[in-house]
Amino acid sequence: MPAKGRDRTVKRGFKEDFLDKVSNREAKIAVIGLGYVGLPLAAAFARKGFPVVGIDVDSKKVESLSRGESYIDDVPSEELRSLPDFRATTDFGALSKTDAAIICVPTPLNKTQDPDIRFVMAAGQEVAKYVHPGMLVVLESTTYPGTTEEMLLPMVSHDGKLRVGEDFFLAFSPERIDPGNPVYHVENTPKVVGGVTPACLEVASALYGSVVEHVVPVSSPAAAEMTKLLENTFRAVNIALVNEVALMCDKLGLNVWEVIDAAATKPYGFMKFTPGPGIGGHCIPLDPHYLAWKLKTLNYNARFIQLASEINADMPRYVVGKVTDALNDERKPVNGSRILVLGVAYKKDIGDVRESPALDIIRLLQGKGADVVYNDPHVPELELDGEPLRSIDLTEEALRWSDCAVIVTDHSDYDWDWILQHAGLVVDTRNATAGVGGRARVVEL
Ligand SMILES: NC(=O)c1ccc[n+]([C@@H]2O[C@H](COP(=O)([O-])OP(=O)(O)OC[C@H]3O[C@@H](n4cnc5c(N)ncnc54)[C@H](O)[C@@H]3O)[C@@H](O)[C@H]2O)c1
Repeated sequence: MPAKGRDRTVKRGFKEDFLDKVSNREAKIAVIGLGYVGLPLAAAFARKGFPVVGIDVDSKKVESLSRGESYIDDVPSEELRSLPDFRATTDFGALSKTDAAIICVPTPLNKTQDPDIRFVMAAGQEVAKYVHPGMLVVLESTTYPGTTEEMLLPMVSHDGKLRVGEDFFLAFSPERIDPGNPVYHVENTPKVVGGVTPACLEVASALYGSVVEHVVPVSSPAAAEMTKLLENTFRAVNIALVNEVALMCDKLGLNVWEVIDAAATKPYGFMKFTPGPGIGGHCIPLDPHYLAWKLKTLNYNARFIQLASEINADMPRYVVGKVTDALNDERKPVNGSRILVLGVAYKKDIGDVRESPALDIIRLLQGKGADVVYNDPHVPELELDGEPLRSIDLTEEALRWSDCAVIVTDHSDYDWDWILQHAGLVVDTRNATAGVGGRARVVEL
């Protein structure tokens, strides 16, 4: 039996205060970096009734959000305007009043394909200026195992002057958002969380548990960092495998799509991946290199990652080879031929061209002297090596004008039947035209 009155004298700590604020939806949340990851996350917290401030260094994005105009398809402008308590700012001073700071800034590679964590460090430095008792700091940017504890912790704790797990809380929770996915979004995608201490894990899990259906706790930030890299390395390696199977089927005179569909009827032990013109986006082409780099520091060569990256990176060249051969069959050189690229986004139904294989395909074709134009309903314009390109209207004339149309991205908006009626030659890298008849000669991957 506790002594009489003991309960009243128990000192409540920062952890309990934080948990109370979460359950009362009073915890003020800052999301740092309002891109494909940060904006949907900020919106998810705001929808649940939390006061949210979004902080970004890009004043154009902040101005656009302040006008109620979204630039991310997954958060339509109407939804943005309906959020009860969300504002955007470039002022990191807002952190002095927030209970949590969630960092969602980019983690690119530098020219030598090594991790460039400058943005994480810059955001961390801002957080360190405003870290205050009881604050939770979470890193969501994809990064190599060890980043949270080796790089962020010393900065945010002011070299240990603030005690992690007591004075403030620190965790890593990888973002798994799949832009454009109509089924899985922030709320129904399980969230992996690793805290530096058990209290950090408890606090971070409580916060995420109030917006996502399932929180998956792991033993450390490094385990959470590695989980994300396993997921994306798994994808990169499997895509490379089917891409190589496509090359093998080509040599064997087999239809790779038929073979994959047949293999996919196996009810266990096979997971379907499809070949394509290469990989793109901010994640799959980059993330495995974060892991390979970390292992290099430990004298280990991540061989699967190296091989997968070579095979995937070479696919645009293979596609251009297909275009060259297809034109050659019609007694046309690539030099001077008119090529219409259909779809430049890195995957269907989104407008993101980061690392898109379409860019390499255009570059390679232009390098061979082709006259290249593109159409993409989701990408009205893009910049290629400093040169602006605009999406042309997809008309019967445009299709007839082209010596070859190359399907790089199989957006749902495209009417393949109509395209095959009016094009003469089509190179289809996505099996988009399977079963569709028409006038065009179709060459598959
Ligand atoms: N896009 C995805 O599908 C996806 C999915 C899962 C994980 N991730 C990871 O999430 C992270 C963010 O990716 P993203 O696609 O949202 O990037 P993004 O480029 O769309 O957005 C990042 C935002 O951060 C801002 N920013 C940069 N430096 C900043 C700083 N110091 N302070 C404040 N804001 C800053 C940029 O202006 C930009 O608006 C990356 O690590 C990425 O690997 C991305």
